[in-house]
Amino acid sequence: MHFRGVRHGTTRPTSSRFDDDPATRASVTCLVDDPLKACLSEATLNGLRLRNRLIKAATSEGKSPLGVPSDALIRFHERIGEGGVGMTTLAYCAVEADGRLDENVIYPHEGVRPQLERFVRTVKATGAAVSAQLVHAGSFTKNPALTNRRPLGPSRGINTLGLSRGLGRISAMTHAQIQARVAAFAEAAAFMKGVGFDALEIHFGHGYAISQFISPKTNKRTDEYGGTLDNRMRFGVEVLAAVRAAVGDTYPLLGKISMTDGVDGGVTYADSVEIAATLDAAGLDAIVCSGGTSSMNPMLLFRGDSIGPGLLQHEKSVGMRMALRIAGPRLFKHYPFEETYFLEHAQRIRDRVRCAVCYIGGANSADALGRVMAAGFDFVQLGRPLIYDPDFPRAVLQDSAHTSGCTHCNRCVGAIGSDGGLYCTERPGTFE
Ligand SMILES: Cc1cc2nc3c(=O)[nH]c(=O)nc-3n(C[C@H](O)[C@H](O)[C@H](O)COP(=O)(O)O)c2cc1C
Repeated sequence: MHFRGVRHGTTRPTSSRFDDDPATRASVTCLVDDPLKACLSEATLNGLRLRNRLIKAATSEGKSPLGVPSDALIRFHERIGEGGVGMTTLAYCAVEADGRLDENVIYPHEGVRPQLERFVRTVKATGAAVSAQLVHAGSFTKNPALTNRRPLGPSRGINTLGLSRGLGRISAMTHAQIQARVAAFAEAAAFMKGVGFDALEIHFGHGYAISQFISPKTNKRTDEYGGTLDNRMRFGVEVLAAVRAAVGDTYPLLGKISMTDGVDGGVTYADSVEIAATLDAAGLDAIVCSGGTSSMNPMLLFRGDSIGPGLLQHEKSVGMRMALRIAGPRLFKHYPFEETYFLEHAQRIRDRVRCAVCYIGGANSADALGRVMAAGFDFVQLGRPLIYDPDFPRAVLQDSAHTSGCTHCNRCVGAIGSDGGLYCTERPGTFE
C-alpha cells in the first residue's frame, strides 16, 4: 500500500525541511508501508530516539500537592511508560511560581529537583523518553500567592477563574514584566534539561499566557506586542528564542498550539496556519495541533460529555462551585465526540510547515492511528486513551481492530481535583 506518509522511509512523497539537512531534527527511520506499523516504529526528534511515534499528551495530573511531585505522580508516568509509549509528558509545569494555576502546580526550583530527578530516572527505565510541558498561566490563575496583587496578562480584563479568590481583575504586563516572563521560560527550560528531561513542550495554546498574547480576544495592546498577528506572536517567538538559546540547537522542543480559540474575535483556524508557520520558522522541532481554550471554550479541545459535572464533584471551594453552576452551561458548549476530530484542520498545518507535526485529539483506535499516519503526521499524542488504558499501545500492536474503551465521559478532568489526582472514573486503580 502506498500512503501519504510524510516521513515513512521509502514511501515518503513530500519533503521534510530536514531531508537535506544532516543535522536532522525530525526524521523517520522506518521503512514500512503500513501506516499503523509506521506509527509503532522508531523515530527521532531532533536527535532524540523514540521507540515509536506515540506520545502521552500532557494531562494535568493533580499529583503534586503544594507543587511537590509525589510518588503517585511518578508511578502514573512509570505505568504509562510500561504500556509502551515512545515518550510521556509531565503536564503543566509552570515556568515560575507566578505562572501556576494554583498552589498545587509544579514549578522548577531546587526544592523539587530530587523528586524530578527520580521521576526522570524511574520513567526512563521503562524505555520511554520523558518530556515536560512548560506553561505560564498569565492571567488565567487562581494562585493565591501571586507576587502582584492582580494576575498579569497582555491587557486589562476579567479573570473568571480567580473571581472567587479575589483575583478577578487582570492588569496589563509592562515591557519589563513581559521580559521577565521570557527569562522565566528560559530558566525553567535550562533547569528541566539539567534535571534530565529528554524534551520540552512549550504551551502556546489553550488560553494560557502565550495564547493570551496571540489571541486578539484577550490582547488589546497597541504596542509592538499587540495588533497584527506578527505583533501578537512576538512574546511567543521571544520565548521560543530564549528557550532555544538556553537548551541549545540539538535539544528537542515541541510546541502546543490552539488552532482556534473557538470564540468570536479569537484565533481562527486560518490564523493557526500562520501561527504554526511562524513557530516553524522560529525553530520549533514539532508542533502539536490542539484547539480551544481552558478559559473561553474548553469543550472544543475535549469533545464528548461536559466536564462540568466532574469539576463540580471534586471542587472544594464553595465560591468556585457557585461560579461553575452559574457559568458552566454557557462555558461548556456541546461538541459531540468524533474520532480524530482535529484531523482536517491539522492537515492544513501539516501541509504548511517543514518541522514535525504531532496529531492530537480523539485518536482512540488502531484505525485512527493508521489514518493519522497515512495523512502524513509524524507523531500522535494521546490523552484519554492512555488514562483509560496505559497498555493502549500494546493493544493496538496486537490487534489492528482495537478501539479504546474510553467513553469520553470526561470525568477524568474533574478527577484532577480529587484527593489522589487524575484517574479514569470508569477504571479506578489502573495506576496504583
Ligand atoms: C484529564 C485531562 C487533563 C488535561 N490537562 C492538560 C494539560 O495540563 N495541558 C494540556 O496542554 N492539555 C491538557 N489536556 C488536553 C489533552 O492534552 C488533549 O489535548 C485532549 O485530551 C485531547 O486528546 P485525547 O483525545 O487523546 O484525550 C488534558 C486532558 C485531559 C483529559
